[in-house]
Parts: sequence; structure tokens; C-alpha cells
Amino acid sequence: MRGTEETSVARSTTTFNEHLGNRLNERRQTPGPRTSITDARSSGRNVTVTWADGQKGHFSSRWLRFNCFCLTCGTSDDGIRSIDITSVPDSIFPAHLNVTTANTVEIDWLGGHVSTFGGEWLRAYCNSPEERARRHAWTPELWKSDFVKRLPRATYSEVATDGEARLTMFEHVRDLGFVMIDGVGADPALTEPVAAIFGPIHPTSNYGYISDVQSKSVAKLGGETAIHQHPHSDDTFQYTPPGIVIFHCIQNNDDLGGVSSYTDGFAVAADLRSSEPEAFDLLCSVPVQFVRRRPGFFDIRGEGRVIRLDDQGRIAGIRYFDRAAAPLDVEEGLVDAMLDAQSKFLERVISTDFKMEMKLSAGDVVVVDNHRVMHGRSSFDQRSKRRLRTCTTDRDEFHGYWRDLAYRLGRDDYNLVMSSGAI
Ligand SMILES: [Fe+2]
Ligand SMILES: [Zn+2]
Repeated sequence: MRGTEETSVARSTTTFNEHLGNRLNERRQTPGPRTSITDARSSGRNVTVTWADGQKGHFSSRWLRFNCFCLTCGTSDDGIRSIDITSVPDSIFPAHLNVTTANTVEIDWLGGHVSTFGGEWLRAYCNSPEERARRHAWTPELWKSDFVKRLPRATYSEVATDGEARLTMFEHVRDLGFVMIDGVGADPALTEPVAAIFGPIHPTSNYGYISDVQSKSVAKLGGETAIHQHPHSDDTFQYTPPGIVIFHCIQNNDDLGGVSSYTDGFAVAADLRSSEPEAFDLLCSVPVQFVRRRPGFFDIRGEGRVIRLDDQGRIAGIRYFDRAAAPLDVEEGLVDAMLDAQSKFLERVISTDFKMEMKLSAGDVVVVDNHRVMHGRSSFDQRSKRRLRTCTTDRDEFHGYWRDLAYRLGRDDYNLVMSSGAI
């Protein structure tokens, strides 16, 4: 270590948080089989840890030293850190190590410095094939139009005050991309506090902070008309489209049309993958363009793949907004094939097989993951007073709220790697 640079950054501040870093194991009073350390020993430059369920983890000494969480080294969790990777020699190894009664591995490094790692933290970051697969095991639950018969619901008074109820609601949005919240009421002032449960509201130049979707005599965008809208992802012209979209129905208590529709874009993509593999491959590999212009104010243009796959080839995000599609800008030879692929995608999005329909009533709140679930509505009579209030929060913020709550409530899936969506 570069001793002179081993400054006491954390020690000189008052931001130390005992719940951060490798003290994760302090979450539970009694470690379980997955987290209770039964053995730790060094072999060469590696440290092998064994837990009570028999799982073994092999940790690089350089990795361990770099992740030391002590008042001197600091932690990535709050970014208050005084070491960097260049300051950890690749030749470092333990002079001595032992398992303590506090379920930690204490390592005396050759050359001085002591690091302590908790059993739960080590397990959470163990890079055995089994543990890496476990962390990457998030699987969305796909749905089709009959989803309307078993809609996941939450109750506002419960999710506002009860962590378990809130976590269940978060898991619905995480895994299904959709939840309804009952009991909010039709007070427009409640849109903001409901949305804030999912993350900070993200304003845009197109919609502002919270937008009223209602028919207006002069419409600046589709949401201000009464015309039919196919299910779509919102604002696909943005480099990162809005993440979690909250729809709060203020009024829709007449029978003049305006039926809401939702389609699980992941289910459509999965169907396309098996039935039209060439179209699927094109939509996964060739970016298409979207646009939103308001002359004198903005001209926003973005492109992206309609279907985004993650590094393991899993469907990870959907970006499709038929009304905002810009003139297609692809190689000459791909134009018709790309239009055909988009047509095959949209045919499924609007089909009775995939599109779920339901009429929202005053006070209903629907929350969707906009990188997956597409939303639309049927046309309605201009005399209708149909009014929705809508706003968005970012997906990373939402996943951050979910993960922290899951951790605090003792769930072991808090460190699942989540899809970064349609980026
Ligand atoms: Fe929309
Ligand atoms: Zn340290």
C-alpha cells in the first residue's frame, strides 16, 4: 500500500454508516446457512470461504483488499473512499486470517492493514457459478390479454404505511411491469405522493412535471386529443425513455369511450422470437428512429432497437411508439424488411391475443414499466370529461427503492441484477 496516501478520509468525516459495506451481515441477529461461515483459509493468493450450506467461495486477495471496508479505506456504497485499484499490489496476500465469533473473516495483510468481511457480504458477492447464476436469475412473468382477469392490485393506505405491502407492490412492477393501486381517490393532488413512492418524479420538456391527459381544443400532442392510440411505449424519442409511468384517473365516469389498453411487450417479443425469427433479429439489431418536435421549443430525436437483448440474450427492453416513429433511416436494402418486422411486431401488440383492455374509473391508479408494458386507449367522444394525470420516475431509481426495501425486510433477492431496459 502507498502508506502516505492511506489517509483517513472516512475517519475525518461524520458520514460513517454502519449499515454500509461489508458489515451487511449485521442485518440479521443470527446468520442462516447461506451466510454463516464455517471455514476460511488462504491458498496462494486466494481466500476460500465455506458457508454452513456447503457452498464455497474463492476470493482473490487483490479483490478482497480493494474491497476493504474500514474507516480508513471507506466504501463504494457512499463513494467516500480513500483507496483505488492502483494502490493494491497484485502480489498482496494474507499474512494471517481467522473466522471471528461475529461471523466475519478477519485478514491481516502482508505489509500491514487489517480487513474484516462479514459472512453475508461475502456470500452476496461470491463469484461461484451458482451464486452468479443466482444473482442473474431475475425472470419476468409474461402475460397476455387474459391478464385482465388476475390483475395485481395494491391498496394505497397499505403501501403508504406498510413495508411488506409496498414490497409486494414493487415486486409486481418488477416482475409483471404492471400494478393497480386501489383507494387513492380522484383528488388530483394525490398523483404526486403516489408517484413518489416509486422514485423522484422526472420532468420532461414534453410533459412537464405532471401532465393532464385530456382532450383539449388545441392539442399539442396525442394525449391531448380524443383519438384512438395503439399501445405504445412513451417518449421513445428520448435516449432513455421514461421508466415507470403512473396513470391516475381523475375522471372517466361516463360511457363515451376511452377504454385503456395494455400490452406486455416482452410477451410480444418472445412470441416474435419463436414465430418470426428473422423479424425478431432485425428488431434486436437495427435501430429505428423516433421524434418529437415543437417548433420554437424543442426537436428531440432518438434511436434505439425496438427489442433490446441483454448480454445473455434475454429480452431486456422494448422501445416502440408507432405515432412517434420518424422516417426510417436504415440501409437501403433493409427498409422494407424493417417495415415488415415492425408491422409483425405491432400486429401482435394490438391483437386480442396480447392486448388487454379495461376501463379506468375515477380514482384508479395504474403503474407500468414503460420499458416493457405498452399502453394505449380507444377513442372517446369529445364530450367526455376523461382526464388522467400522468408522470414518470426512472427505472434505476425505482429498482433502487425496491432493492433497499427488500434488503431491510430480509429478502435474499435484493442483489438480483436487474435489466437496464430499453437503452
Ligand atoms: Fe402514452
Ligand atoms: Zn481498510
